[in-house]
Amino acid sequence: GKGAAMVTAVAYRLTDQARQIQQTLAEFRLSKAQLLEVKKRMRIEIERGLGKNTHKEATVKMLPTYVRSTPDGTENGDFLALDLGGTNFRVLLVKIRSGKRRTVEMHNKIYAIPIEVMQGTGEELFDHIVHCISDFLDYMGMKSARLPLGFTFSFPCYQTSLDAGILVTWTKGFKATDCEGEDVVDLLREAIKRKEEFELDVVAIVNDTVGTMMTCAYEEPTCEVGLIAGTGSNACYMEEMRNIEMVEGNEGRMCVNMEWGAFGDNGCLDDIRTIYDQSVDENSLNEGKQRYEKMCSGMYLGEIVRQILIDLTKRGFLFRGQISETLKTRGIFETKFLSQIESDRLALLQVRAILQQLGLDSTCDDSIIVKEVCGTVSRRAAQICGAGMAAVVDKIRENRGLDHLDVTVGVDGTLYKLHPHFSRIFQQTVKELAPKCETILLSEDGSGKGAALITAVGCRQRELEAQ
Ligand code: GLC
Repeated sequence: GKGAAMVTAVAYRLTDQARQIQQTLAEFRLSKAQLLEVKKRMRIEIERGLGKNTHKEATVKMLPTYVRSTPDGTENGDFLALDLGGTNFRVLLVKIRSGKRRTVEMHNKIYAIPIEVMQGTGEELFDHIVHCISDFLDYMGMKSARLPLGFTFSFPCYQTSLDAGILVTWTKGFKATDCEGEDVVDLLREAIKRKEEFELDVVAIVNDTVGTMMTCAYEEPTCEVGLIAGTGSNACYMEEMRNIEMVEGNEGRMCVNMEWGAFGDNGCLDDIRTIYDQSVDENSLNEGKQRYEKMCSGMYLGEIVRQILIDLTKRGFLFRGQISETLKTRGIFETKFLSQIESDRLALLQVRAILQQLGLDSTCDDSIIVKEVCGTVSRRAAQICGAGMAAVVDKIRENRGLDHLDVTVGVDGTLYKLHPHFSRIFQQTVKELAPKCETILLSEDGSGKGAALITAVGCRQRELEAQ
């Protein structure tokens, strides 16, 4: 409001300090020309990922998913779904009914995965997952059913079929040993065997972007793109088979899991990366990897903010020049705190209360600066994410030889859903950078539901093949 604007105006009287802070933040404020450049480079990386001769060294892997079509409403049956790799680990029972009145009924339970398990041995991780499934089946009273299962596994996997996926590399907060290079479906099947308590039929392994696209496409058939803006950042879309040189065949389409988080790992974004982005990367579990993701997803935005705040404090512009233990703590600014700090409804006094909760003693001036830092970092995130999406929708439009494309993007993820400005800035950016596309965003609940829909298709295919 007006009051807040006045406070801001007074506090920002052109002191040298304010100028220096603005100089620091200016690096995060990208021009339209810079964003168009990001879009253009994403397009180049897309082509390299799809091409047979360039795929090997490409950073954006464009992984085939063996999902050949979006749902058509004839999917039917009861399915178990797992959702691993986002903010929560969930086990779901999904009952899909086809026919005149299509319905989807879902039951789910959230389970914690302790850090020691995320970063322990692969065997421990998969035993833990199976332990959670066992608890869920007891809870639902369905232990003897041998249900078909769809596994939403939100990491890069090389797939050779719907039910085989070799983990390329862990991303985000996971680092369990002995999994990279292994077929994740085998690891799950072996863990189920070890437990000797129940049987399941693992039918599909699904990236969360693909699950999200399928969930949205079930409601809206024009949905052919999936986006996750959450703990991590990634997208998928329906690509023409003839362009996917890694897979035999030229007919029809297949959904490609882009793994766009790795965009920039060849240095192509270095000119827009700041020293703060570099520090975040150096402090991460996977240095040098997922550089784009580290600029635009929930797991890292708070870390960028923290690096800036540490620097501004060192320079004497914040917190009376005192770097507290809290500020030294990794991961303090979770997406939900950033979202609160940036909420327009919040008075500065409340921003101070949040900082206080985090253990940061702030003055009124401090809180103004912190809020501006958060806003600047999350705006850049939404914009570069939008630039990536602009490249995708324009690629689809060109694939179809159209001057204009109407397309729906299914979106999920905590950053998209919780943050007060991310979705708006993202949408604006896509519109500005891909003016020949009308991009509609649709947010439906759940990559778990999508995994069940894909499993339903997989089961039907199997029955056809068995005939
Ligand atoms: C990471 C994963 C990717 C996933 C994304 C969103 O980028 O590598 O597979 O889709 O996070 O969860």
